[in-house]
Amino acid sequence: MPEYKLLTKHRGEKDTHTIGHYKSVGGYTALKKALSMKGDDIVNEIKTSGLRGRGGAGFPTGMKWSFIPKNVDKPKYLLCNADEGEPGTFKDRVLLEEFPHMMIEGMIIAAKAIDSHQGYIYVRGEYNLSYDRIEAALDEAYKAGLLGKNILGTGYDFELGLYAGAGAYICGEETALINSLEGRRGHPRLKPPFPAVSGLYGCPTVVNNVETFSAVPHIINEGAGWYNKIGTPKSAGTRMFSVSGPVKKPGVYEIELGTPLMTLINELCGGMQDGKTLKAIIPGGSSVPILTAEECKTANMDFESMAEHKTMLGSGAVIVLAEDTDIVESTFRLAEFYAHESCGQCTPCREGTHWVADLLHKIKEGHGTSKDLELILSLSVNMEGGTTICPLADACVGAVRPTIQKFRSDFEKRLNKENAA
Ligand SMILES: Cc1cc2nc3c(=O)[nH]c(=O)nc-3n(C[C@H](O)[C@H](O)[C@H](O)COP(=O)(O)O)c2cc1C
Repeated sequence: MPEYKLLTKHRGEKDTHTIGHYKSVGGYTALKKALSMKGDDIVNEIKTSGLRGRGGAGFPTGMKWSFIPKNVDKPKYLLCNADEGEPGTFKDRVLLEEFPHMMIEGMIIAAKAIDSHQGYIYVRGEYNLSYDRIEAALDEAYKAGLLGKNILGTGYDFELGLYAGAGAYICGEETALINSLEGRRGHPRLKPPFPAVSGLYGCPTVVNNVETFSAVPHIINEGAGWYNKIGTPKSAGTRMFSVSGPVKKPGVYEIELGTPLMTLINELCGGMQDGKTLKAIIPGGSSVPILTAEECKTANMDFESMAEHKTMLGSGAVIVLAEDTDIVESTFRLAEFYAHESCGQCTPCREGTHWVADLLHKIKEGHGTSKDLELILSLSVNMEGGTTICPLADACVGAVRPTIQKFRSDFEKRLNKENAA
């Protein structure tokens, strides 16, 4: 089978969320090892492993940790981004609900690496079971001497708190998350300064995704060289993908990076439902450019192949569309999502996302003209490429423009020809 179960090896077993189960399968042994290592050695191990962030941009994790300045007279903070708001994405939820200790262990190791003594987990407001499971796991970890003062008698202190968001997608953007944690409105901050220099309360801060932290104990246990051999040269390790849409077995699958996209769809998800024909796949969450069925045949689930296909692995959400999917409707729904979630700070995003959604609504309802289609394509140019504080407007463009370009005839069929002049 093309599944490669590293983080999800014990999925389906009883009580995987408890410390008892986690310890029975080797949990917290990596922490013991890491606590005897120097911070720099942990950072180097993660660098050598080739681990890249699983939250969206795929930034090298060890390099991010190495940006935290040393010898500063300020606390250093460690944040876990468990906001998981990108449409189609539900892979962190599996880790949070079923393996919270793996993420917590990864966070304590990361804290030791950057010499942080305070961390927070920012969890999506709607993830009630995740919240409860993390809360219970934190309690267990504190009682077992794995968190708090003098962890396992080594003299190292690390406090870890839990905070629930309030349902805003933008709070998954790391600087909006930081503002939200500080009790401010969840607005992204201008960068630079980046969080590594000035993050939570103006102090050096590392923000990583749930899955990124969850990979860390495995790397420390098995070694960077071992991890680096899994996957492809620039995409090391495994990755979890949440597959949705009309496939026979939608769900969360962990695969080796580099696995062909169609292997994931045909072998793991059982192919299309009810003899439907594949129309397209959005391979990395709603913000990334769509792939046609033809392009899907040559796409592999790794950073390099996705870049060659001018798209991204993004948040690890694979959204499948069948020939009978109304792609005009689905594109409108995504644009409407971005319009709703825009924080409103930047004009190209505040105005642009609503404008795109309104035009798509007009086209969907059969009142649009070819000028409206052209207008979407032209105004989208002013929404991307650094015209805004954060990439939410770019995300809206990613969800809309390639879809119109690749499936133009679907949109043209909906135009009102009588109005065309
Ligand atoms: C609008 C927006 C929403 C985002 N939402 C999430 C999210 O829900 N979870 C996440 O891990 N990263 C999200 N990100 C990416 C984060 O800003 C950040 O890059 C990530 O948490 C870094 O972790 P990593 O290096 O482990 O990938 C979002 C980015 C943007 C622009």
